[in-house]
Amino acid sequence: MGRVFVAGSINMDVVATAERHPRIGETVAGQAVLYFPGGKGANQAVAAAKQGVPTTLIGRLGNDAFGQELRTFLGAQGVDVGFVKDTADVHSGTAIITIADADNTIVVVPGANARVDGDDVASPVLAKGDVAVSQFEIPLPTIAAFFARARAAGATTILNPAPAKQADKALLDLVDILILNETELGFLTGTELRDSDAPERFAEAARSLAQGKIVCVTLGKRGVLALVDGKPLQVAGRAVKAVDTTGAGDCFVGALASQLAGGKPLRDALAYANTAASICVQRMGAAPSMPTAKEVREVLGA
Ligand code: RIB
Repeated sequence: MGRVFVAGSINMDVVATAERHPRIGETVAGQAVLYFPGGKGANQAVAAAKQGVPTTLIGRLGNDAFGQELRTFLGAQGVDVGFVKDTADVHSGTAIITIADADNTIVVVPGANARVDGDDVASPVLAKGDVAVSQFEIPLPTIAAFFARARAAGATTILNPAPAKQADKALLDLVDILILNETELGFLTGTELRDSDAPERFAEAARSLAQGKIVCVTLGKRGVLALVDGKPLQVAGRAVKAVDTTGAGDCFVGALASQLAGGKPLRDALAYANTAASICVQRMGAAPSMPTAKEVREVLGA
């Protein structure tokens, strides 16, 4: 079995729940304040580890109380945190999240995540069959260095370009599988896309990004559309009652990486990840809502 290596962000999510989101300049009364471990890198690592696949996280924490709490949490989920460094003079990554009606808005303050550098990704030794995963909450040159090493070792590289920002071709050329939602796809392709658009519109936009790689577009409750060798492959969404969609995309990425590391074919891995994400949205919080392999298999009837 291959292993999963995630180079990415680790945040404490400070969540306020309210009946509705405030408009600009408006104050609304909230219902609760909650603290959940999060960060796209940490969420994806937890999602992979909970599928029983050896998972290593490469990242940074501040030398503060959130940092200690996050390290303890990640270790307890089975994530190898041996390559997570404590960093002086900077706070741990923090996300301020508002949740109303199961939808969220997020402001991320990177803190220590902005310090993850080329040296950090130079130590772990990857091998053929491993899967290397990253997202856009750590510096882009660090991701490029990580993927170059992964490629040289014969590992598969997965990029989740979230939150969306422009990336140069040199970085995108190091990617085997690109996983993004319709907002990120619209941003990277300069296309106006809505979640109600027909699948062909997403496939058309994804085609312009593919250039030899697999592109997976996550479509929330509509499931996922992948473009493989130019051909669309669709997995239908599952109808569930969502309470919090925070981290659902990360759940998909981590679960997919775990299945590919375990040697599963792409179609099966997509269906598995889609099911995992549908479980995640039924729980509050990002990292704590990642399902176990047993929970996913029960839903799949496998
Ligand atoms: O993708 C969800 C994550 O985005 C949250 O956990 C938050 O920390 C931000 O990084």
